[in-house]
Amino acid sequence: MDPALNPFKPGSGLRPPALEGRDAEREQFDLLVARSKHRNYDRGIMLSGLRGVGKTALLNTLAEHAENQGWLTIGLEARPNEAGVSAVRAKLGNELVAGLRRFSRRHKLQKALDGLVELARGFTLGVGVGPAKVEFKLGQQAATGDLDLDLEELVEAISEVMKKRATAFGLFIDEMQDLDPDLLSALLAVQHRAAQREWPFFVIGAGLPSLPSVLADTRSYAERQFAYSTIGPLTNRDAADAIRIPVEQSGGALTPEALDILVEASGGYPYFLQEFGKAVWAVAPEAPFTEDDALFAVEEGRRALDGGFFPSRWNRATERERRYLRAIAATGETTPRSGTVAAAMGQTTTAVSDVRDSAIKKGLIWSPEHGRIGFTVPGMDDFIRRQPTE
Ligand SMILES: Nc1ncnc2c1ncn2[C@@H]1O[C@H](COP(=O)(O)OP(=O)(O)O)[C@@H](O)[C@H]1O
Ligand SMILES: [Mg+2]
Repeated sequence: MDPALNPFKPGSGLRPPALEGRDAEREQFDLLVARSKHRNYDRGIMLSGLRGVGKTALLNTLAEHAENQGWLTIGLEARPNEAGVSAVRAKLGNELVAGLRRFSRRHKLQKALDGLVELARGFTLGVGVGPAKVEFKLGQQAATGDLDLDLEELVEAISEVMKKRATAFGLFIDEMQDLDPDLLSALLAVQHRAAQREWPFFVIGAGLPSLPSVLADTRSYAERQFAYSTIGPLTNRDAADAIRIPVEQSGGALTPEALDILVEASGGYPYFLQEFGKAVWAVAPEAPFTEDDALFAVEEGRRALDGGFFPSRWNRATERERRYLRAIAATGETTPRSGTVAAAMGQTTTAVSDVRDSAIKKGLIWSPEHGRIGFTVPGMDDFIRRQPTE
């Protein structure tokens, strides 16, 4: 088929041609937005799941919906090792300045939010802006340099304006497990305060399966603060739609047998659906795509994954981490006990705990429950077993 019309987009955070199977999360969020118009506030939402399962795509869709419904929205992507309170402050502050400007333009507020913009600038720098410069009277003080206080002051000032307008302030944070611990702790405290005082401020986060425990370890009340949602693979039916709809919209078609093969090979995992969808479009000479086209596409798709998706993770691992990852893959279990893995390496659990921790920090593996370990992307174990030992 014409490559120029290929609708599929394997990649990180790329908007899929059809976002299937996320109705529950979207409805839950729609309700939060709808209620905010009645100044009736609910909890923020935390999405967690393996890499490539579609968290970023979903988070972006939610943010877009909120923005279209008149929310002030800010997006942040946390990065590991992005330490330094001043760096994260600057990032959050700059995004806020940009977001407030966007909001002003969109709602034709001219200079009405200049005071908030000044406050956000002061927050960025971690220095006082001086109440004299701030035009609206909310009794706020200059930024104190204390992250918790400054953030609270800023969120309160913004929330007050949003509440008056019967709208809300949404902070959308991707890869939230990697957020700087000081900022994370300050954000959870402010979210807590916001809930108590009925400020329309909501943190909507997405991250690896470790996210809920990272939050709980930061603040004990985090468990009750958000609605948690696990983002998993799609059902067969949704996975089939995720391929069929874009194919048909672009002028193609698939036999039911071809569709079954692609769905089955993907395991309903969104990244793989995009990869196999892209491949079937590329290899099929004409519509409808046949069983043969699908089988060929799965081979092509797997080659593409072996050339990029898997190695990009494997290549990030150190020599020692690779030995550990190989030992996990060799167990043949999805989530083996860390004790079993260590024993297979002829080591004690304690002796390899540092390499286990560093692989977790890099997002290569995660601990689904105490004492167990698994890969953060499906199929990684097969890939590793196919790698020649160096
Ligand atoms: N619900 C979905 N249906 C179909 N494809 C999706 C869906 N969600 C995400 N994708 C696609 O899957 C790939 C991975 O999505 P992404 O949001 O980056 O995952 P994550 O953030 O969980 O690592 C992207 O190519 C994206 O377009
Ligand atoms: Mg992502």
